[in-house]
Amino acid sequence: MSSNLTKIKLSNGNEIPILGLGTYKAKGGELITTIRDAIDIGYRHFDTADFYENMESLGEAIREVIANGKVKRDELFITTKVWPTYYGEGRVEASVRKQLKQSGLDYFDLVLLHWPIVFRDDDSSEGFPLGEDGKIAIGTRPLTEVYKELEKVQIAGLTRSIGVSNFNSSQIDRIVQSASIQPVMNQVEAHVYLSQKKLQQFCSERKIVLTAYCPLAAGGNKSFNLLEDKTLNLIANNYKKSAAQIAIRYLIQRGLVAIPKSIRKERLESNFNVFDFEITNEDMETLKSLDYGKRAVWFDFFGTKDAEEYPFKAEF
Ligand SMILES: NC(=O)c1ccc[n+]([C@@H]2O[C@H](COP(=O)([O-])OP(=O)(O)OC[C@H]3O[C@@H](n4cnc5c(N)ncnc54)[C@H](OP(=O)(O)O)[C@@H]3O)[C@@H](O)[C@H]2O)c1
Repeated sequence: MSSNLTKIKLSNGNEIPILGLGTYKAKGGELITTIRDAIDIGYRHFDTADFYENMESLGEAIREVIANGKVKRDELFITTKVWPTYYGEGRVEASVRKQLKQSGLDYFDLVLLHWPIVFRDDDSSEGFPLGEDGKIAIGTRPLTEVYKELEKVQIAGLTRSIGVSNFNSSQIDRIVQSASIQPVMNQVEAHVYLSQKKLQQFCSERKIVLTAYCPLAAGGNKSFNLLEDKTLNLIANNYKKSAAQIAIRYLIQRGLVAIPKSIRKERLESNFNVFDFEITNEDMETLKSLDYGKRAVWFDFFGTKDAEEYPFKAEF
């Protein structure tokens, strides 16, 4: 693993742009316009998931920018994820094949298991199959076997790399010990209020890179607003940058990949404009001191918190 700050080399030799565009909640024509703008600005890495239900528009935009010569497919890095209702035998590959068909792409660069909780196989419950008690219906397949299904996706040539998302250290350990193809990535929430320092160290010792989702802590759409933090804004003023730019730079300077989402051109531009300055060690230390362990995403629907594999019970 090495980083020149625009790309990180993964343990299998593939490279991932350190800054990508998140696409959760972006759909249809809005997403197509966003991807066109993002490509012009310089984004080459896009993050999606089956759950986001935007595969068709993402694929349409990507095929368009390739067809009109703006980029080649091998200059792009496209990540997707498999939802826990598709963790049964043969279903991980079926989900990826479905997503490839929807997008019109030939392959993905990275496919992740979206969550470490296995749900009952299901195609028709909008992702959350419930038992008679009204709680999420948990599947019985161990995570290590689900991961074996994901390995088949890479062997079949449907993706260049595989990994996981929202896995804690014990879940990572089990995968690493039993994998034939090592995971190259763990995508987790990380930002100034949730540094993920321990998980980063743990994963780095296993040659796994962290991608930071919600790098802006969801832009104030949750119970707290990182971008209004006083200290973050004081530091931002000193660099003549915005709070969002400092929040993104803080992550990539620590060697995490960051995938801020925006559908607004001016924000796409400013979020990408983080390569022309460096945060001093002293300011990095101040930012690290704001690590309050605050999460924007708890994934606590329909009793998922009671599941044995609920990932956030562990310290990291
Ligand atoms: N693996 C997982 O389980 C998981 C979970 C959550 C997210 N993700 C991925 O990570 C991506 C990023 O996370 P996220 O979208 O939840 O949160 P985020 O990137 O931290 O924040 C996005 C929010 O901030 C706003 N925003 C963007 N740039 C801004 C700026 N410069 N100033 C002020 N507000 C700004 C956006 O609004 P506008 O669009 O209106 O600009 C949007 O409401 C997702 O899109 C998704 O791809 C993965």
